[in-house]
Amino acid sequence: MAGGLGSRLYPASLAVSKQLLAVYDKPMIYYPLSVLMDIGVTDIMIIVNAGDADKFNALFGNGERLGINIRYAVEDHPKGIANAFIIASDFIDDDTVALILGDNIYCDTGIIIRAVDKFESGALVFGVTVYNPDEYGVAEVSEDGRVLSIEEKPTSPKSNIAVTGLYVYDSDVVAIAEGLKPSARGELEITDVNMEYVRRGNIILANLGDEVPWFDAGTAQSMMRAGHAVADREKQTGRKIGCPEEIALECGYISLDQMRQQLESMPESDYKAYLTRIVAVQAG
Ligand code: DAU
Repeated sequence: MAGGLGSRLYPASLAVSKQLLAVYDKPMIYYPLSVLMDIGVTDIMIIVNAGDADKFNALFGNGERLGINIRYAVEDHPKGIANAFIIASDFIDDDTVALILGDNIYCDTGIIIRAVDKFESGALVFGVTVYNPDEYGVAEVSEDGRVLSIEEKPTSPKSNIAVTGLYVYDSDVVAIAEGLKPSARGELEITDVNMEYVRRGNIILANLGDEVPWFDAGTAQSMMRAGHAVADREKQTGRKIGCPEEIALECGYISLDQMRQQLESMPESDYKAYLTRIVAVQAG
């Protein structure tokens, strides 16, 4: 989901979509797109604001260069995160679906991949421990790990577990979203979708604890913190975070030859040098 007003980033987001702004060395959307690819999602709809589709299209086109299918849908007015399921209802059809927010940055996907592999039905969400839970959806979890409630930006949070912006659902989610009423702030809330799964007793929260650095890069402060964290971690590990070309190669969505071809038209840059090294290592 890459629409929304981006108002908390004003004026940085005045002329450019928030999700196209750079976090360290790449556009913000590279990070969530890479997570989807990493968990095996290869049919992707990117929801953007009117007038922005061409810019996203310039980044990824129809996804062919990454070995995936990408299409774009325009949201004419930000009606809330859960509206994604109404916009994408035909696209989702009877399938399981993952939604990721275009400003969410996960620095590691190990726990996420393992949880998604076990997903069968209902809902799967990901929690992290934060110091400022009142800024997020907050989960109350029983001692045996059951989700008891989720509240959106509560003034008195019941825990310090934030529900992050990656959600996996069965296809019931479309009917659930269609039955929602707008909240007091006039939005179809993703937390209301999650609460319906809580009521059905069919939601799992995989806790990323504080081991996986995670950022909602929706403010200038958090965007800068995310950029620093990505840069530090990339330097430490020698591996890029949020590099869709690398994941496409790793997951077998594209071949080494397809990657080599892309490199030919890529401008000389650290990014190209990195991918060139990856190709050399993979080629043995
Ligand atoms: O980041 C995690 C949090 O994201 C969750 O803990 C909250 O439960 C969830 O409501 C959401 O809260 P935010 O206040 O961060 O949501 P925000 O309005 O910033 O929207 C998140 C992203 O979704 C952002 O990249 C813009 C996009 N968006 C949002 C709305 C409301 C759209 O594309 N369309 C929309 O209508």
